[in-house]
Amino acid sequence: MTKRHILVTSALPNANGSIHLGHLLEHIQTDIWVRFQRMRGHTCIYVCADDTHGAATMLKADERGISPEALIAEIQAEHTRDFVGFGISHDNYYSTHSPENKEFAQAIYTRLKEAGQIKVAMVDQLYDPVKEMFLADRFIVGTCPRCKTPGQYGDNCEACGATYAATDLIEPTSKLSGAEPVLKQSKHFFFALSNFTDFLKEWTRSGTLHEQVANKLSEWLDAGLQDWDISRDAPYFGFEIPGEPGKYFYVWLDAPIGYMASFKNYCSNHPDVDFDAYWKAGSDYEVHHFIGKDIVNFHALFWPAMLQVAGFRTPTAVHAHGFITVNGLKMSKSRGTFINAATYLEHLNPEYLRYYFAAKLGSGIDDLDMNLDDFVQRVNSDVVGKVVNIASRCAGFLVSKFDGVLAASAGTPLIAEFASAKDAIAGHYENGEYGRAVREIMALADKANQYIDEHKPWVLAKEAGNEAKVQQVCSDGINLFRLLVTYLKPIMPTLAASSEAFLDIEPLGWDDVDTALTGHRINKFKPLMTRVDPDAVERMIAAGVETPQTDTAPTLEPPLGEEIEFDDFAKVDLRVALIVAAEHVEGADKLLKLTLDLGGEQRTVFAGIKAAYSPEDIVGKHTVMVANLKPRKMKFGVSEGMVLAAGPGGKDIFLLEADAGAQPGMIVR
Ligand code: MSP
Ligand code: ZN
Repeated sequence: MTKRHILVTSALPNANGSIHLGHLLEHIQTDIWVRFQRMRGHTCIYVCADDTHGAATMLKADERGISPEALIAEIQAEHTRDFVGFGISHDNYYSTHSPENKEFAQAIYTRLKEAGQIKVAMVDQLYDPVKEMFLADRFIVGTCPRCKTPGQYGDNCEACGATYAATDLIEPTSKLSGAEPVLKQSKHFFFALSNFTDFLKEWTRSGTLHEQVANKLSEWLDAGLQDWDISRDAPYFGFEIPGEPGKYFYVWLDAPIGYMASFKNYCSNHPDVDFDAYWKAGSDYEVHHFIGKDIVNFHALFWPAMLQVAGFRTPTAVHAHGFITVNGLKMSKSRGTFINAATYLEHLNPEYLRYYFAAKLGSGIDDLDMNLDDFVQRVNSDVVGKVVNIASRCAGFLVSKFDGVLAASAGTPLIAEFASAKDAIAGHYENGEYGRAVREIMALADKANQYIDEHKPWVLAKEAGNEAKVQQVCSDGINLFRLLVTYLKPIMPTLAASSEAFLDIEPLGWDDVDTALTGHRINKFKPLMTRVDPDAVERMIAAGVETPQTDTAPTLEPPLGEEIEFDDFAKVDLRVALIVAAEHVEGADKLLKLTLDLGGEQRTVFAGIKAAYSPEDIVGKHTVMVANLKPRKMKFGVSEGMVLAAGPGGKDIFLLEADAGAQPGMIVR
C-alpha cells in the first residue's frame, strides 16, 4: 500500500459558546477517521481552530466589558480542554484571529480581485443610529407586515410564516439600542460566484461529496448561483479588506481559510512538513473536511471556487453529517438535553459516547438520534458485555495457573477468520460507514464468546489432566480479544491503551491483526471499562437543565398584547387534532403542510415549524389547533386553521402535544 499524506479538518466551532453534543459528534467522527488512517501507517494531520470573527463576538465582548481578544482566548482554552477530554487528537487547535489567517485571507482576496472576480455594488441596509452600525436581520425586531404580530425578527414572521426584507417590518427597532433603524446605503464587495456554476456542477459530482449532498447542491446549481457578499462595514471584529478602510471581510470569508492558517502554524512548528506539498494546485496529497449539513454551501460551493481562482488545490472530499437529536427531539436547554461537553465529562466516560456515535454513524447526512436508554443498553451490552468480558473470562485462569503465559492455539479457525475481516472493516472506516464496522466487529465478538462458552474453561479447570487445553482455550480468547481491540482502536483509544498495557504489548497497528500472540506473558487483568450507570445519565441531564435566569426583573419579550374579554377568548375553538400527514412545501423555508384530523373532518394547515420538526417526527402525534379560524389564503395554498406551538422560534419551537388519552375533535380548555 502506498503511503498517503492526508490533511483533515473539522468545522471551526464558533467562539461564542461552549462545545456541545453536536460539535462532539463531528469531532468524534473526524477523530475516528484520523486515528484509523494513522493506524494504517499514513501521515494524517488533523487541524482545527476557533472561528472568532463577526458582530456576535464583538457584541458579546462588549456586554462582558472585555476585549474581543480576551473573550476568544478564554473560549479557546475551554474548547481545547473539552476536546482533549474526549480524546480528540487535533495536531493543532488554532484561532482564525491569527497573523497567518490575516495574511492568507488578504492574499486570497487579492488574487480573486486580480482575476476580476470581485464586484462592487451599493447595498441598502438598516443602520442603528445610536450604536452607529449596520444591523444584521437577527438584530432587528418589528411588527409583521402581513399578520401584524409584534416582536418579529428581520427576515421572517414566526406567527404567520411570511418572509420579507427587514426593511418591510412595521415599526422596526434595533435589538441593540432600541432605536429605530434608518435605511443607509453602503458599498459592498462581492465574490462573483455566478461565474463558477459550471465549474461547481462538475466539481460537486467528481467524487468529492456524498450523493445526498451533491443532490442537495444541484437544486442551487440548477437555479444558478448568486454573487456572494463578502464584506461588512465597521465596526466589525475581523480583518480589514486591503485598500478599503472601514470594510471588513465577512466572517465566512476568512473562516475556511482558517484551516490553511492552522495548518501553516502547525508547519512552522514542524519544519519537516511542507505546506505547499499539501496546498499547491494539482497536489496528490489529500485534504478532507468534516462538517455538518448546515454549512455545505460554504464548503462545497464558495470554498472550492475561491481556492480554484486563488491557485490552490481544491478539497479531496467534504464529508457532511446530519444533526443530533436527543430522545427523538431537538437538543433543548429546558429539557437538559442540550448537553455540553464539560457537563458530560463530569458524569460519564467519554469513550461511551465515542462508541455510541460510531455505532450510529453512516456516511450520509441523516440526522442521528441519541436515545439515552439505548445509549446505556448498547454500550453495556456491546463493549462491556461482549468485548471486555472476553478478556476478563480468560485472563484469570492464565494468570493464576500459567503465570500469565499464552500458549499456542487450540486450533480454532476463528483467529484466521477474525484476521481476514481486516479489509472489509478497513473499507467501512475509510468510507465513513462506522456503524457497519461496529456491526461486523460485534458479530465477531459474539463468535469469540460462543467459542469460550463451548469450551467452558471454568469446567475444564476443575478436572485434572486438562491444563494444556485450558491454557490453549484461554490463550485463544485473549488473542481474539486482541484482534477486536485492534479493530475498535480508532473508536476507543483509551480502552485500546489500557488493553495494550494489560496485554503488555506495543501500541497496536492495523497490520498487527496478521499475527497472534504466543509464548507471551500478559499482566493481571484489571477492569478495562465499567458499565454505564443509568443514574449517572440522569444526573447529567438534571445538571444540564437550564431555567431562565430570574435574578433580574423579568421582562416579557415580545411585550404582552392588549387585554381581551373572556368572551373573546371563548370564541376560540381549540381542538385536539391528529397529524395524519406532514410534508415539505416546495419553495417555503419555514413551512410544513399538515393534514390534521379532527375526528371525521380533515384540515390542511400551513405551520411555520419546519426548522424545528421533520415531517416524519410529527406524523401520528396529537396536537392542539384553533379549529374555527377563518381559512386564509397563503402563498402556498389555503390554511384552514392554526396549530399551537410555543418557543422563541426557529429551531426552538415546540408544538403543543395533547397527551396520550386525547381523541381527535376533543375540546381543549
Ligand atoms: N463557525 C462555523 C464553521 C466554520 S468552518 C470554516 C460554524 N460553527 S458552529 O459552532 O455553529 O458549528 C460547528 C460545527 O458543528 C458545524 O459543522 C455544525 O454543523 C456542527 N453542529 C452544530 N450543532 C450541531 C448539532 N446539533 N448536530 C450535529 N452537528 C451540529 O458553523
Ligand atoms: Zn406574520
